[in-house]
Amino acid sequence: MAILSWHQRQLNKSYLYNPTANTLTSILTFIQFLFYLLPLAHVMAGSLLAIFTALLATTITIILIQIIRYNRRYTSLHLPPGPPCWPIVGNLFQVIFSGKHFIHYMQDLRKQYGPILMLRMGFKTMIVISSPELAYKALIENSQQFASRPAESYSRRLFSSNKFTVNSSLYGHEWRSLRRNMVSGMLSTARIKELRLTRSRAMDRFIERIRSEAAASPDGQSVWVLRNARFAVFCILLEMTFGLLDLNEEHNAQIDAVMKKVLLLTGSRMDDYLPFLKPVFYSHQAKALAVRREQIDTLMPLINRRRAILKDCSVDPNAAPFSYLDSLLDLRVEGRDKAPTDDELISLCSEFINGGTDTTATAVEWAIARIADNPSIQCRLYEEIITHVGQSRLVDEKDTENMPYLQAFIKEVLRKHPPTHFSLTHAPVHPVSKLGGYDFPPDAGLEIFLPAISEDPELWSRPNEFDPDRFLTGGETADITGSAGIRMIPFGAGRRICPGLALGTMHIALLVARMVQAFEWWNHPSQPPLDFKDKFEFTVVMKTPLLAMVKPRVWYGK
Ligand code: HEM
Repeated sequence: MAILSWHQRQLNKSYLYNPTANTLTSILTFIQFLFYLLPLAHVMAGSLLAIFTALLATTITIILIQIIRYNRRYTSLHLPPGPPCWPIVGNLFQVIFSGKHFIHYMQDLRKQYGPILMLRMGFKTMIVISSPELAYKALIENSQQFASRPAESYSRRLFSSNKFTVNSSLYGHEWRSLRRNMVSGMLSTARIKELRLTRSRAMDRFIERIRSEAAASPDGQSVWVLRNARFAVFCILLEMTFGLLDLNEEHNAQIDAVMKKVLLLTGSRMDDYLPFLKPVFYSHQAKALAVRREQIDTLMPLINRRRAILKDCSVDPNAAPFSYLDSLLDLRVEGRDKAPTDDELISLCSEFINGGTDTTATAVEWAIARIADNPSIQCRLYEEIITHVGQSRLVDEKDTENMPYLQAFIKEVLRKHPPTHFSLTHAPVHPVSKLGGYDFPPDAGLEIFLPAISEDPELWSRPNEFDPDRFLTGGETADITGSAGIRMIPFGAGRRICPGLALGTMHIALLVARMVQAFEWWNHPSQPPLDFKDKFEFTVVMKTPLLAMVKPRVWYGK
């Protein structure tokens, strides 16, 4: 109710501009003008100009008819408030010329328009919610209603094999089969436990890499945190995906480089919002195809090697006993009579690797920044490790489960610095949907703005302060799945909640524990003081990447 009445006050603002009427008038005037021009042009400059004018008139008419049809769908709806918009481009230029990244601009809009607002980004409509109540309604109470995904751009369809991945597939049996397979095949508690050795080996290599990078640096102590954490997680996920244990770091780095190109190409572009600009971005499609080719050429040999091992394990007796790929090779998806094609295998495997790499590494960078910034937190984490593990062995993932301060610290990192500020875009399953008392246009995407929830002053005491103790002596709780009430949902919530939640949190805890056990951490003196400002780069990372100084702990390695 409070949401509704708040919005009634804002409502007028969103209708300052009537898009349909204004657009119609300008369209008709323009078309009239062009057709008047036609005979004149014929006489004056011959048939070439006439043909050109006719073509122009036809193109513009097609575009404008599309706009009218698009706007007409909206006139009968009771829509959430939002900034006034322009014809055709909607709010696109306001966002672009705000001088801020969308994740920061959103904070301003939220203050102005409230917890549910609508933005028209060219031909795309976004409904953004930023309150725990609305997120609970959309994701938990009516979890099926918004459990689908929107239509995708050309590049995204290409890299997802036409939406044949868990994250991109529409709500339905295809998604259910793929997701069930990913969870039971690789992400269930039992499966995760079986992969303990993979992680332990990767952690040893990771600590060694930090040690040698520091030793090779000019002052013998400097380390880039994000890059190293990212590579460690990438190698673990690569091993989980293909079950090949003999890939060397150089080869892994090559695969990683291709994956990064994919991420760059699947980001949003202007023609995603204004489809009539597609011809202008024609070269981008060719580039996307070339990168897809490169991705196939890089991953296909790994798939074929695994196939050979499954046929005859003597080909590589050291290979892992199971991998995510194994679960996909004979997968029967409901409603389909064939196993995934090679092209689809590439998309599914890439999704597994990409889903957990940047997200996890980002959280680790924020965690180490907090540790470097606060000696008392660093000291308490180290003492907890010593208490549980002693000084003669390496901390492992079982230990981390029983370390309440470490667990509270990780939770606070995810509350204060969720690696993604928006969950993936949701879409309504059925055309008629309502949310927060408003109509939800059938072609709109639902965005959940996560930091607004985890820093809501009505839910959290001192929300802007970083304080792991809030989860211990402070008595605050948070179920990060959101099913018992939404307070922080860095992994989303409801049916499309991140299936990698358990693996992701375990990776963060293990990496942080091993890093603190092995080294003392500081912000490098050559760097500006830590200010915890963020920026968007696939995920929401530190604005100034963390260059840390490390000092090996005295006992370690002896
Ligand atoms: C700290 C680590 C991670 C964070 C913060 C994170 C966050 C998220 C978020 C916010 C979503 C969107 C949920 C929604 O649509 O409402 C998501 C979805 C997803 N994540 Fe993660 N994730 C992490 C790790 C992982 C890992 C390790 C994997 C797999 C190996 C993974 C695979 C996926 C997949 C497949 C989806 C799509 C789920 C669906 O549409 O049904 N994520 N993740």
